[in-house]
Amino acid sequence: MSCASSHASPSPPTRWSGDLIQVVAETARLVLRELTDADLEAIQAYASDPAVVEFLPWGPNTEDDTRRFLSAVMAGRAARPRRQWDLAIVLRREPRLVGGCRLHVTDEIAGEADLGYALARGYWGQGLASEAARALVEFAFTRLGARRVWAVCEPANPASARVLEKAGLRRERFLRAHRFMKGRWRDSYVYACDSPGR
Ligand SMILES: CC(C)(COP(=O)(O)OP(=O)(O)OC[C@H]1O[C@@H](n2cnc3c(N)ncnc32)[C@H](O)[C@@H]1OP(=O)(O)O)[C@@H](O)C(=O)NCCC(=O)NCCS
Repeated sequence: MSCASSHASPSPPTRWSGDLIQVVAETARLVLRELTDADLEAIQAYASDPAVVEFLPWGPNTEDDTRRFLSAVMAGRAARPRRQWDLAIVLRREPRLVGGCRLHVTDEIAGEADLGYALARGYWGQGLASEAARALVEFAFTRLGARRVWAVCEPANPASARVLEKAGLRRERFLRAHRFMKGRWRDSYVYACDSPGR
């Protein structure tokens, strides 16, 4: 099965708040672009929200946590070969950073990358995460040459499971007590999608 396609396309650097920032993918409503130090406050706004981080291995963040995250992102971006894309999800119309998404190469030889996303609470329920996830999947297959995109999500987080399904991933496995996170063992669904040519 192949994944759903999106409007993702190669884009030149764009000017954003006076800086040149690389746009990685675009959709009808969103721009997925590289993060900068100037994003600290906007990231901190959602990364410190307990409802946003409930199913994530990190957070709620202090400002120092978010600063460390940004430093790690910059280091990951500079690595060659680059294995980590941690991107801002920005609304086209404002432009406002409303969340973050991630594609990390987890196995270079097998061509596998894992996918993640989080949105500020005020932007849930508008189809934005699904739009971002679809664009990242397309980026993984068409730009990175990935063969497989995968993600884990808790059964208790059905909105995330639905986002993965809408991005073309299928549920492959159920892992009981897969991760110990924030004081308790969490079950996981593993979702994945193979590149159309695989
Ligand atoms: C999960 C999250 C990214 C979803 O973002 P979103 O932009 O609201 O997602 P979308 O609107 O694109 O799609 C959500 C889908 O889930 C469905 N959904 C939402 N809550 C649901 C629930 N309780 N049960 C079943 N489906 C649900 C929606 O109806 C929608 O599906 P539809 O379009 O078929 O109607 C967002 O809630 C979030 O950032 N959560 C915190 C971070 C997080 O959990 N990240 C994922 C970690 S694995």
